Amino acid sequence: MAITLGFDIYGTLIDPHGVTVKLGEIIDDRAAEFSQLWRTKQLEYTFRRGLMRDYENFVVVTRNALDYADQVFNTNISEADKQALMASYRVLPAYDDVPAALQKIRAAGFRLYGFSNGIAEAVSGLLEHAGIAQYFDGVVSVDEIGTYKPNPDVYQHFVESTGSDKNNAWLVSSNPFDVQGAINIGMKAAWLHRFPEVVFDPWGIEPTIVMQELVEIVDRVK
Ligand code: 2OP
Repeated sequence: MAITLGFDIYGTLIDPHGVTVKLGEIIDDRAAEFSQLWRTKQLEYTFRRGLMRDYENFVVVTRNALDYADQVFNTNISEADKQALMASYRVLPAYDDVPAALQKIRAAGFRLYGFSNGIAEAVSGLLEHAGIAQYFDGVVSVDEIGTYKPNPDVYQHFVESTGSDKNNAWLVSSNPFDVQGAINIGMKAAWLHRFPEVVFDPWGIEPTIVMQELVEIVDRVK
């Protein structure tokens, strides 16, 4: 059976900081810093909602984190501009290396899925907008079971809904917490070390492989 790959979306294939373009029009030179806080809080809110068992989807969590960052930076962003920022989240760009790498991975015979905290409709829209949807067999969203990565149920859901099994299902992610979540249930996981400053959490839960480039999947995932 072909190996099934679950690609994390935000931070792995799609750049959440693409929003700094729109932010720069609204809040001047603090856009990059603002975007970092927005993303950090967005993820923190997913962890907290998971622990509280009080699920709201990723659109709500993203908007809550935007409101938080707006208050911290004292930027008083108008409701219209907040809606424009949320709209720009639906057309975020892929990282430059992604289209060519996915083409090669697909050609090598793997089964490809988007696997995200994002709602399926938003993820499909991002893949379409980035011109990479044709490489995927489908999208699996945590929204289908109402909790977030790295809850073990989320990875189990991925394995079951793609008709794979733990031995031939791999997560591909730049997010260490996501990699540890997949390894925790017995999946395999490739950590893409996309950003040199990111340290893999030293818990003793290690990735199956560490890649410097996405295209390494072709030769190293077996
Ligand atoms: C994703 O699930 C974790 O944001 C990341 O796409």
